[in-house]
Amino acid sequence: MSEKKRVAIIGAGPSGMAQLRAFESAERQGMDIPELVCFEKQADWGGQWNYSWRTGLDEYGEPVHSSMYRNLWSNGPKEGLEFADYSFDEHFGRPISSYPPREVLWDYIAGRLKQSDVRKYIRFTTVVRLVTFDEDTQLFTVTSEHLPSGETTTETFDHVVVASGHFSFPFTPEVAGIETFTGFITHAHDFRGAEALGGKDVLVIGSSYSAEDIGSQAYKMGARSVTASYRTAPMGYDWPKGFEERHSVERFEGNTAFFKDGTSKHVDAVIFCTGYVHKYPFLPKEFAVDGPNTIYPERLYRGVVWHDNPALFYVGAQDQWFTFNMFDTQAWYVRDLILGTTEMPSAAERKRSMAVWQNRYGVTPSNAENQIRYQADYVRDLMEATDYPSFDIDEVSDIFIRWTKDKRKDILGYRDICYRSVMTGTIAATHHTPWMEELDDSLERYLSPGNPSREPAGRRG
Ligand SMILES: Cc1cc2nc3c(=O)[nH]c(=O)nc-3n(C[C@H](O)[C@H](O)[C@H](O)COP(=O)(O)OP(=O)(O)OC[C@H]3O[C@@H](n4cnc5c(N)ncnc54)[C@H](O)[C@@H]3O)c2cc1C
Ligand SMILES: NC(=O)c1ccc[n+]([C@@H]2O[C@H](COP(=O)([O-])OP(=O)(O)OC[C@H]3O[C@@H](n4cnc5c(N)ncnc54)[C@H](OP(=O)(O)O)[C@@H]3O)[C@@H](O)[C@H]2O)c1
Repeated sequence: MSEKKRVAIIGAGPSGMAQLRAFESAERQGMDIPELVCFEKQADWGGQWNYSWRTGLDEYGEPVHSSMYRNLWSNGPKEGLEFADYSFDEHFGRPISSYPPREVLWDYIAGRLKQSDVRKYIRFTTVVRLVTFDEDTQLFTVTSEHLPSGETTTETFDHVVVASGHFSFPFTPEVAGIETFTGFITHAHDFRGAEALGGKDVLVIGSSYSAEDIGSQAYKMGARSVTASYRTAPMGYDWPKGFEERHSVERFEGNTAFFKDGTSKHVDAVIFCTGYVHKYPFLPKEFAVDGPNTIYPERLYRGVVWHDNPALFYVGAQDQWFTFNMFDTQAWYVRDLILGTTEMPSAAERKRSMAVWQNRYGVTPSNAENQIRYQADYVRDLMEATDYPSFDIDEVSDIFIRWTKDKRKDILGYRDICYRSVMTGTIAATHHTPWMEELDDSLERYLSPGNPSREPAGRRG
């Protein structure tokens, strides 16, 4: 019988892919790695970046995972998320702009893994249905279903890495009278493109990234007006004419929205940009992260080790300023704990460490710069604990902070700004077409020489 440990990785999005890369990197250094099985319910890798035109349920009756829309471009500079072991220069062979569209980033994520044969570990169109843990054997039992055949499989693993994402199950609050609204209504999770919003009065509910970006997309595609309604605080950007922010919607009467400030407005379309819930339908409650979307979720030592079962790990469970390179540092650390090259601290030490990070988070004023610095320190801590290629994390933080300021200066033009790569020193290329004028979000168009004289389309009226 094989002595190899078995590791289940749930999800082949950027976090699960980082976990595969981490093991593969150890194997390349001559280490003996465990038997890996990565379960992925979609037909391809990339997680959120693997766009689906479908909404609601997929062809197998499974909830559609991706919340991305056709027109989505990176909302942060790519220099903030660049892998330390695989640069954009290496992938594209030339400088590209700082804010690529979705398909370009999908290509980049996949490109790194295509250098190896780790795809062989992934069971596509296979959804994990249940994970249980046996105290006697100290093994997890994972039940999965191969969606096309409906066949279920049950097998045991020494470790489980949960990398199933947490921006997929929408949170949609109740609003009084909304059942009388006769226009178009959806949640950001099911939003697929803004073209149909041309000429419409659009209301986005929320004041975070989805509200900002879907509102901007609607404006770009010629919405007659965009109203963003905030609960806690407005986004406060210098929005163009026709784009305004108002306090919470208190009720609807037919197609009229009534706001907390006493004003009202007729709207044709409502898009709930009210965020997501942590939901892990395959995990018993005692193993599932819950609570708000936060940068230091409770009960996760170093953001990755489940507090009272250190054989269970999460990658990518926190709110994210840092993304791809943070998932990498997490995956490298998880790998080392599994391989035993790093010792698992005692339960008391894990508890102490979580309290320190939680306390620091609790007393840190919650502004963008503080949160970025906090998450940078978190990533640095993991980077120093592993052999993930070291990079200047403070410089990446500075890029993110500059980005928040660039958005303040020009919320519809910030995606045309170029940054310098921390990994290679390369300055990003200016894209051939300003974001506000670019209506073709494809990889092919993005990488083409472009046609600057092309009729600027988009914003009408
Ligand atoms: C609309 C939107 C836009 C975003 N834009 C950006 C951006 O511009 N820049 C940026 O850096 N980040 C962005 N993000 C953040 C994004 O969450 C990360 O970039 C990244 O995709 C997270 O990776 P992940 O692997 O943790 O999760 P995901 O990408 O969500 O991948 C999880 C994977 O797990 C699979 N899965 C789930 N449940 C199961 C199951 N039971 N069985 C088997 N497989 C399962 C899913 O199919 C999916 O492939 C965006 C997120 C959203 C929602
Ligand atoms: N690439 C892109 O362009 C892009 C686009 C969209 C999203 N994203 C990513 O997607 C992820 C999720 O972003 P998100 O904006 O969907 O979620 P989010 O950041 O969690 O924000 C949720 C928003 O919903 C509001 N809200 C929650 N409950 C509400 C209620 N009952 N009534 C009114 N408002 C309520 C919150 O307001 P409070 O402030 O009051 O809590 C907050 O503004 C992020 O990682 C983001 O970067 C990226």
